[in-house]
Amino acid sequence: MKKVPNHVAIMMDGNGRWAVEKGKPRSAGHYAGMLAVRRTVEAAVQLGISNLTLYAFSSENWKRPKQEVDYIMHLPSIFYKTEIKALNKAGVRVEFFGDLQALPLKTLAVIKKTMQETIHNNTLILRIALNYGSKDEIINGIKELVQANSQGIQEYEELRQFFWTKEMPDVDVMIRTSGEQRLSNFLLMQAANARLVFIKAYWPDFERDMLSDAITNN
Ligand code: IPE
Ligand code: IPE
Ligand code: MG
Repeated sequence: MKKVPNHVAIMMDGNGRWAVEKGKPRSAGHYAGMLAVRRTVEAAVQLGISNLTLYAFSSENWKRPKQEVDYIMHLPSIFYKTEIKALNKAGVRVEFFGDLQALPLKTLAVIKKTMQETIHNNTLILRIALNYGSKDEIINGIKELVQANSQGIQEYEELRQFFWTKEMPDVDVMIRTSGEQRLSNFLLMQAANARLVFIKAYWPDFERDMLSDAITNN
């Protein structure tokens, strides 16, 4: 049996197409996407994955219609209400990362609450990228580095200490659903050596077997 990868990252794509093909509003696709997150977290715990990272909203996604953005920004609150108990029971620590200060205040408050209330869990770390862009993370890190250390740096490791994701191990397997084969500005440095897996299914149809295939067929 192959070793279970330490860190799996997923670009959860295809919520919109899933909904449109069913004659539903795009928001229904995002809600169904949240249910897929629940299933995937359960599966990751069962499979023994220690780090699961999900791309929920990119820094480019603000360009979408306001109604859709508003719904996505409300989802962390639904996620908190419906999932917090099960997450704590399963030992899942939740961390959000990205340019969090630019989020609506209500969204920021509820994600902080989610992080605080799961901080002591250690079976799985679930990291959710919200308002994340890799280029933003790198440029922000360089700005902070220049302020903290005018001598400059020699190695990538020193720069990494200034990333939002500084505690995150490098990605071993990167999955993207919906058939698209792009990186969309996600974890460009952290996934420099990751194995890429592209899956045709839309994110709301993502299942445990797809995760287990993605981590074993290598
Ligand atoms: C991914 O699904 C979720 C987000 C980017 C918020 P999409 O909403 O991108 O779904 P498609 O690509 O339009 O089908
Ligand atoms: C990338 O998906 C971001 C997430 C999966 C959250 P998009 O659907 O927004 O990406 P592009 O625009 O197709 O590259
Ligand atoms: Mg998409």
